[in-house]
Amino acid sequence: MFNKKIISFIALQLFLTTLVAQRSLPVYLDDAQPIEKRVEDALSRMTLEEKVKMVHAQSKFSSAGVPRLGIPENWMCDGPHGIRAEVFWDEWTQAGWTNDSCTAFPVLTCLAATWNPEMAALYGKSIGAEARYRNKNVLLGPGVNMYRTPLNGRNFEYMGEDPYLASRMVVPYVQGVQENGVAACVKHFALNNQETDRHLVNVNVDDRALYEIYLPAFKAAVIEGKAWAIMGSYNRYKGQWCSQNKYLLNDILRNEWKFDGVVISDWGAVNNTEHAIYHGLDMEFGTWGVDGYNQFYLANPFLTLLKSGQVQEAELDKKVRNILRLAFRTTMDRNRPFGSFASPEHSLAARQIAEEGIVLLKNDRQILPLNLEQTKKILIVGENAIKMMTIGGGSSSLKAKYEILPLEGIRNKIGSAASVDYARGYVGEKTAEQDGLTAADIIDHRSPEELIAEARKKAKEADMVIFIGGLNKHEGQDSEGSDRKELGLPYGQDNLIGELAKANKNLVVVILSGNAVAMPWANEVPAIVQTWYLGSEAGNALANVLTGEVNPSGKLPFTFPVKLTDVGAHAAGDFPGKDGEQVYRESIFVGYRWFDKNKIKPLFPFGHGLSYTQFTYGKPVISAKTLKANEILTVSIPVRNTGTKTGKEVVQLYIGDEKSSLPRPVKELKAFQKINLAPGEEKTVEFKISVNDLQFFDDRKHEWVAEPGKFTVYIGASSGDIRASVGFELK
Ligand code: BGC
Repeated sequence: MFNKKIISFIALQLFLTTLVAQRSLPVYLDDAQPIEKRVEDALSRMTLEEKVKMVHAQSKFSSAGVPRLGIPENWMCDGPHGIRAEVFWDEWTQAGWTNDSCTAFPVLTCLAATWNPEMAALYGKSIGAEARYRNKNVLLGPGVNMYRTPLNGRNFEYMGEDPYLASRMVVPYVQGVQENGVAACVKHFALNNQETDRHLVNVNVDDRALYEIYLPAFKAAVIEGKAWAIMGSYNRYKGQWCSQNKYLLNDILRNEWKFDGVVISDWGAVNNTEHAIYHGLDMEFGTWGVDGYNQFYLANPFLTLLKSGQVQEAELDKKVRNILRLAFRTTMDRNRPFGSFASPEHSLAARQIAEEGIVLLKNDRQILPLNLEQTKKILIVGENAIKMMTIGGGSSSLKAKYEILPLEGIRNKIGSAASVDYARGYVGEKTAEQDGLTAADIIDHRSPEELIAEARKKAKEADMVIFIGGLNKHEGQDSEGSDRKELGLPYGQDNLIGELAKANKNLVVVILSGNAVAMPWANEVPAIVQTWYLGSEAGNALANVLTGEVNPSGKLPFTFPVKLTDVGAHAAGDFPGKDGEQVYRESIFVGYRWFDKNKIKPLFPFGHGLSYTQFTYGKPVISAKTLKANEILTVSIPVRNTGTKTGKEVVQLYIGDEKSSLPRPVKELKAFQKINLAPGEEKTVEFKISVNDLQFFDDRKHEWVAEPGKFTVYIGASSGDIRASVGFELK
């Protein structure tokens, strides 16, 4: 009886205490309150010193929270293809953890090559879950700098040459990441289109090219994707460094786009205290050449200016508000999921994306898929068949849980159905290395002559030869910090491919790269496959496509030129600029826009990619012959699978303005759809066109305009393979 009384008394006390505790929950901790109220409340409780601590790094990849108030630290991680391994507090070197081996997803050029926004959503969701599991609240990616030149060492981290394609792919990626309560940090804002002199180069670009080509993917990420973070780039624009750039950050990002997330500097991209304070930057990371984190531009030097009254606290508050908002969206969101890491589901996602991104460039005599009834002796040649590609390339280098290499994947797949022999053929750099992680040793000391002789001899005896080469993640290839020197393949591969083509007419060339390469041998080989860097599931995905288990459906996200001077950025011969100045003379004519305008025939056009089946396009039907403001036109076209295999086709819609007051491209991508068709099946693809799709950026008025007149809709299988067109008039 007595005990019962005591127990009920204690229970009542507990209940009341909880009630009181709940009532007195400070506003900033109460997730029933609107975020802006919580931000203001937290801000009002912070000291000047606590605020300053928040706006700069405290270690390589983290910044301080407010321990006194229970506001957690921010932890960033690369990005964009997998969750980078843990590094030491203050170094780039890996810390040697044994539980940080991630799923390596395919590079972003591969994602763009899927032309499938559902794949981008899957990618974002999966990599976001990995970031969350590892307790990172900011993923440093995705990258959406435009593919201006095939020499850019970082193109593999971006989504190709077309602003519309990149926009459609970046939005679901960002949304997918952020579903996990992890911010996507879209990078590198903006105009970071070369690695040469990246810390110095001042980009001179006209407003039309800026708004029509270089900004749309960022804008889509911010406005449609609602990205919570953006990373300023290293280079300069209008003479100011982009991580502290009034025009890009204050005028465009904050004022025009109403961005309410955090602006994070690239690592070591802050160079000017005044600009860092006033030009839209919120968090400073990676500054070098100073004595510790307290000496960062936005640390003690900033604090001194604030204390002396030379800078108003309101400037600091603007930054802290953005950082607090980040906390409430991520670390302090009690409902966010827990994440998952290196799971079978993520491997599957990585493989699906890889399979959909592989592009079949050429397939004469329908030599692919491999016919294992007739092909009994297969020879694989080339270093990239045995080289790890998840290590290297700069900040996107990964410590992958596993990586199936091409030779391994093909051998596993073919099993005993045929013999699979291997010849090295050529030797590139010694071995892959990054931040203290070294790939498996593949050193070979034989001379080029010996290697070629072996490959030639074996090629003559084989039923089929599959050459697996291309670029790699070493400096000067597809790698951060430097650009390629030439369009051609390195390490004498052209010569080797020529020899193989002479030795065996059944030669398949597989190129691993994140960039276009020259193919002087293209006419001498029956089949060419473009496979990017595919991550953990690389070998499996490639083997599935080569054997036909998966029907290829990737399309090029950028043009393959015959030679470098065919590219707009190289026509004037002044890449990568002089005395730190780079002029984008080609203006809006980037990628296929340049090839169309100058009637240059590319090696493979933007949007190109074959299938093991064939698709026939019917006659397009347009809902009306005129379009008025606020109206929508519908264009539909039947597409039929006239081959013998189920396959996916990307139906592409381009629009050309017949006459305009300013120069415009012949045509521009405005819509696409990826459809799956069984043999004999037909589907009608429907596209909607609105006035927005007809606009260009009028730099005289600083606004988007659509001028009345005639337009042509082009529908095709690539920018160079238009199957139908139909006209209409804008009234
Ligand atoms: C790269 C960024 C990267 C950062 C942190 C920089 O060098 O440009 O893309 O996120 O390092 O690793």
